[in-house]
Amino acid sequence: PKEKGWRTLHLYLFQGFWCQSLEIQSIIAFHKHFQARDSDIVVASIPKSGTTWLKALTFAVVNRHRFAVSKSHPLLTSNPHDLVPFFEYKLYANNQLPDLSKFPEPRLFGTHIPFPSLATIKNSNCKIVYICRNPFDTFISSWHFTNKVKPQSQAPISLDEAFDMYCKGIVGFGPFWDHMLGYWKESLNRPEKVLFLRYEDMKEDGALHLKKLAKFLGFPFSLEEERGGEIGKIAKLCGFGNMKKLEVNKTGKSIKNFENKNLFRKAEVGDWMNYLTPNMVERLSKVTEEKLEGSGLRFKVFS
Ligand code: A3P
Repeated sequence: PKEKGWRTLHLYLFQGFWCQSLEIQSIIAFHKHFQARDSDIVVASIPKSGTTWLKALTFAVVNRHRFAVSKSHPLLTSNPHDLVPFFEYKLYANNQLPDLSKFPEPRLFGTHIPFPSLATIKNSNCKIVYICRNPFDTFISSWHFTNKVKPQSQAPISLDEAFDMYCKGIVGFGPFWDHMLGYWKESLNRPEKVLFLRYEDMKEDGALHLKKLAKFLGFPFSLEEERGGEIGKIAKLCGFGNMKKLEVNKTGKSIKNFENKNLFRKAEVGDWMNYLTPNMVERLSKVTEEKLEGSGLRFKVFS
């Protein structure tokens, strides 16, 4: 790949998407060894679109009969990425092969891998929940995160340079639009397989989307649970305010050597307005419009 900027992020083009060399190694191992089961549940996303949140909600919903919301709930002592592990950062990382036999059913996994590269998951009947976020906020979140977790020896990436690369599609697991469209199209073709969620909608009406998620996953809330406030309890447990202040999320490391605290920044819709110039907004809006044309996919970019 000869695009200007790829060296800064150490990204390589692999199967049509950008990722780092260690990720390529784990994805190859995942392709070779992972066998999907119809009962599996996969949380999928492009980085910085709300993955941590959706993993927490999925874990809490699916396991609520094993773990009621209480002072000893696993989400209070474990980061969501430890409870719903990534194929590419945990299970198949560092030349390891996971022992998946001990995973309780349904097995919960997470991934940033684009839909066309999902190997056996694609054709199985397992369920995928995908979260997407508007490109403006995803970009700003990703720029902050990249600079926070970069090695100290490396110079920070400027907003301008990162933005230029982003608009050209050069971002981890991007191009951004291709990633979303892969899952979006599958959600239209096979709505029983892919549930396509938007970060902004979930912020607006958490309870509605939690019900939708639970129903899609085959764990619908009963009337009794609804009356007993179960939905609100799960929403609060997984909410930004609660997650950010937990000790494990202030001190632990759950993805590579990144500190968990960097996974929780502002969690707002529209923070991009504090950073992007009118020219930047015009450029990103134009490329987004072109890429999504005819797909039916739209975003809310203001709160
Ligand atoms: P900001 O950087 O805009 O604050 P990911 O989990 O895919 O890495 O996405 C990270 C983004 O989701 C960050 O956005 C982060 O603050 C936000 N986030 C993390 N936990 C959240 C939660 N429980 N609810 C809502 N947003 C959350």
